[in-house]
Amino acid sequence: MKIPSVKGFHDVLPAESARWANLEASARGVFEHYNFAEIRLPVVERADLFRRSVGETTDIVEKEMYAFADRDGTDLTLRPEGTASAVRAYVEHAMQSTEPVTKLFYFGPMFRRERPQRGRLRQFSQIGVEVFGRDDPAIDAEILVLLSDLLQAFGIESATIGVNTLGCAQCRPGFREALVAWGEKHRDELCGDCQRRLQQNPLRLLDCKQKQCTALRDSAPRMLDHCDAQCREHFERVCGLCAAQGVELTVRPYMVRGLDYYCRTAFEVVASGLGAQNAIGGGGRYDGLVRSLGGPAVGGIGFALGMERLALVLEAQGVEAAQPVPEFYVAPMGEAAETAAFLLTHRFRAAGVRVEMDSGSKSLKSQMRRAGKLEVPYVIIIGEDEVAAGSITVRDMRARSDRRNVAGIGTEVGALRAALAAEERA
Ligand code: HAM
Repeated sequence: MKIPSVKGFHDVLPAESARWANLEASARGVFEHYNFAEIRLPVVERADLFRRSVGETTDIVEKEMYAFADRDGTDLTLRPEGTASAVRAYVEHAMQSTEPVTKLFYFGPMFRRERPQRGRLRQFSQIGVEVFGRDDPAIDAEILVLLSDLLQAFGIESATIGVNTLGCAQCRPGFREALVAWGEKHRDELCGDCQRRLQQNPLRLLDCKQKQCTALRDSAPRMLDHCDAQCREHFERVCGLCAAQGVELTVRPYMVRGLDYYCRTAFEVVASGLGAQNAIGGGGRYDGLVRSLGGPAVGGIGFALGMERLALVLEAQGVEAAQPVPEFYVAPMGEAAETAAFLLTHRFRAAGVRVEMDSGSKSLKSQMRRAGKLEVPYVIIIGEDEVAAGSITVRDMRARSDRRNVAGIGTEVGALRAALAAEERA
């Protein structure tokens, strides 16, 4: 009996993983320019880490965590996101003592028990960045420019970055009050979830996707009108620096985030080609978080992009994920030829060449068919005649011609390439 994979947990097959490798390689290139260092974080953490950071009343913590008791009773969870883990590691290793401004990036799987649909999985992968130790607007702008550079490096064409300010510990309570007052006034028009959110987490009223709630939204109070002068200045400076750098931001006054730790600058990237799950990334500032998890009183900011959604957007744009093609396919026939082919293949590989080799017990026809499928430019044929003559035959797959005795059976790759080039010129 076949054992299927688990709902919401997908395989990334080779045709798709090439795209992922491209995304990761481009991201690494950009992170290098911004002087970020990689951190590799565990996928299992104590469940409390997320309860205390993401927030008890968020969907992630309330409904979506894969939390379980370890055999010794410790309350653990598969991580639903990376920020809290990065903060935990920063605090645990007192990273501020070696590097007052710590700039980290990570790749890896996250787990949320959501209802699976296109672009929404239970295991998904993020590319994330976190900066600890700065709370000035220039770093927020730097992070937004980095985000824009990443999207460009990936070849994402149609993304827009929406920003908002969520205020700070001083001005948020006033905004919350205004929001609750507004919600109470419209209580009967709100959906059931929002009626419940009204007391527990009123900011989430602004984020509701139900028609009756979105219809009301334009009359809701805006954080931008309620935040204090410092938060407003901060926001304006962030927007100003991004504009100066030519990075376009769309102010979305009702945008809030699904995680509770944010303050001041918050942002979300949306792209077309995704349907309902159109957010390919999101992030923001989280100034109280490090302190609340036992660390120093330093600011933090970061974002994460979802790999699956980036891949879907690129697919919708018609961007092919180029599969690497071997330069040579070595086709032996018979055992003696197989030995010679085996040695030649490993000689070439040691020289840094991508080579595929098949079994000497297969027919030349079937080996050629496979080489054709792989779109290999050259097949090195070694049969009984070649072994006897101590030389190789190379089939040029594009010209559909065989070059006999083009090189000795013990040839190095450089000599073979030169011989092939000389023949092509002739
Ligand atoms: P988030 O908005 O929850 O933020 O997730 C970031 C991105 O992860 C989303 O925009 C989406 O692309 C992807 N994502 C989230 N859930 C799923 C899912 N179920 N299936 C597929 N993709 C998904 C965070 O996680 C924050 N930790 C980001 C951050 C970093 N903020 C500050 N630093």
